[in-house]
Amino acid sequence: MIAHEKIEKNIGLMIALIIFTVSIGGLVQIVPLFFMHSTTEPVQGVKPYSGLQLAGRDVYVREGCYVCHSQMIRPFRAETERYGHYSLAGEFVYDRPFQWGSKRTGPDLQRVGGRYSDEWHRAHLINPRDVVPESIMPGYPWLADAKVDPGLTVRKMTVLKDAFGDPYTEEDFAAAKTEIEGKTEMDALIAYLQSLGTAVKTRR
Ligand code: HEC
Repeated sequence: MIAHEKIEKNIGLMIALIIFTVSIGGLVQIVPLFFMHSTTEPVQGVKPYSGLQLAGRDVYVREGCYVCHSQMIRPFRAETERYGHYSLAGEFVYDRPFQWGSKRTGPDLQRVGGRYSDEWHRAHLINPRDVVPESIMPGYPWLADAKVDPGLTVRKMTVLKDAFGDPYTEEDFAAAKTEIEGKTEMDALIAYLQSLGTAVKTRR
């Protein structure tokens, strides 16, 4: 009782004790993080992008697809009914930077992988109106003429491995070279789209 009265009447002591008490809570939460390699575990089945998919991802970023499309399904019924299972943090461990987006002029693409055939995507990307008459999405016909550079893509994979520890192997680099040989940016973008969200089983 006496001790408590002392603390309440001495603001300096009170401040010191409050800081001490709060810091214990802070330490308990913060210190373990220093000893963890990562707070986000990859979702089972999530693999680093193959060479072709990685090249396609860069086309996606370069063309600004994220300006109209999100890749982030929120855990609401209206979203999961339409797009499938809501997005999980561990699905994005190999995305640098994330393509979550912030605006949906078009639909969310997080789980578009496997929803359409490659031929559908090809037709849609060349001229969206050919398959969706009311579409306002622009066409990207030039992607069918631009070749992907295998050497550059392998260099990008090497950086992802060396700088961020993505688990690529020498076989992956060799496979990427053969996979990309003669492929266009259109092929790469479609390979990327077909890979999206496929690690998590959805109801669709
Ligand atoms: C100006 C906004 C805009 C941009 C930029 C845009 N899209 Fe779209 N996208 C749309 C709209 C609107 C739709 C819905 C109509 C349709 O299917 O064409 C759509 C639909 C799609 C679909 C079908 C999704 C589904 O579930 O039916 C895919 C795939 C797609 N876009 C990919 C892309 C890619 C890849 C790029 C970049 C190369 C891109 N979009 C750029 C607006 C856009």
